[in-house]
Amino acid sequence: MRLILLGAKGMFGTDALPILEGAGHRVVPADLPEADITDPTSLERLLDAHRAEAVLNAAAYTDVDGAEREREKAFRVNAFGTRMVAKACADRRLLLVHLSTDYVFPGTRPEGYLPGDPPGPAVNAYGESKLEGERAAQGELPPERLLICRTQWLYGRHGRNFVDTMAGLLSSRQEVRVVNDQWGVPTHTSELALQVASLLQGGARGVAHTVGGGGPITWYDFARAIALGLGLQTRVVPCATVEFPRPARRPAHAWLRGEEVPPGAVRHWREALEAYLGGKGLA
Ligand SMILES: NC(=O)c1ccc[n+]([C@@H]2O[C@H](COP(=O)([O-])OP(=O)(O)OC[C@H]3O[C@@H](n4cnc5c(N)ncnc54)[C@H](OP(=O)(O)O)[C@@H]3O)[C@@H](O)[C@H]2O)c1
Repeated sequence: MRLILLGAKGMFGTDALPILEGAGHRVVPADLPEADITDPTSLERLLDAHRAEAVLNAAAYTDVDGAEREREKAFRVNAFGTRMVAKACADRRLLLVHLSTDYVFPGTRPEGYLPGDPPGPAVNAYGESKLEGERAAQGELPPERLLICRTQWLYGRHGRNFVDTMAGLLSSRQEVRVVNDQWGVPTHTSELALQVASLLQGGARGVAHTVGGGGPITWYDFARAIALGLGLQTRVVPCATVEFPRPARRPAHAWLRGEEVPPGAVRHWREALEAYLGGKGLA
């Protein structure tokens, strides 16, 4: 498939490009400043210049705390921008694969969420803007030309992420306190890209939960696994979210349970973490 990858310079986009190409797709990478999803003219120019069959939208405003003070910007990119991408795809009869997040859920279900569970209300501005983006895409495109891939706790080599931050703290301190009352499952960017490629291959449509296998765990569990993987003896101490006030509220229980990707095809989050810490790829 010839596909346009929006947000190609981001954490996911950078790792996804070679994986999608390895899966046999011809990928046109695009990002700011040339390809701005909030600018319909630049989008249309891009889509018309390449005769693509699909668009993979990884472009987003992703600063969760920043979205509380830059609410308008978050909505412009994640809601309005997504609508523009979906509209441009609808006009050209292209398939849209759109990346979304666990933050579209309130996070009140310890048993996790399935793709068919109705999302909302989100607990922060970023989640609200992404939820509006999902709804905009669903409003613009017929079901046979839309696949929404929700992911969570994403980490990869080309962006700020929990694993790298924690690795830095664990190597420089004797004790690190980590929240033990938020649940989810870590997802390696490469794992996400492989799952997206597998869903594309299988012709999936609708909503899919594309996350690492073996969840859910807490950030504390994840930090302990990182320390273990790095062979560090640093004390990891569990604590509560209230001890770390942040501008944006976080959903407590937002584990995305997947069904679409065959279970055997999904790596356990621990295996993906080991590959990441060992500097090895997943593909
Ligand atoms: N990171 C996570 O933990 C996480 C969790 C769940 C879901 N997701 C979703 O996964 C997707 C990929 O996330 P990511 O971590 O790879 O994000 P990222 O590293 O922030 O990458 C997003 C890319 O989109 C670009 N972008 C921003 N505004 C744009 C615009 N108006 N037009 C075109 N491109 C624009 C960014 O450019 P600049 O850097 O120049 O702004 C960046 O290159 C997003 O949909 C995100 O919501 C992420």
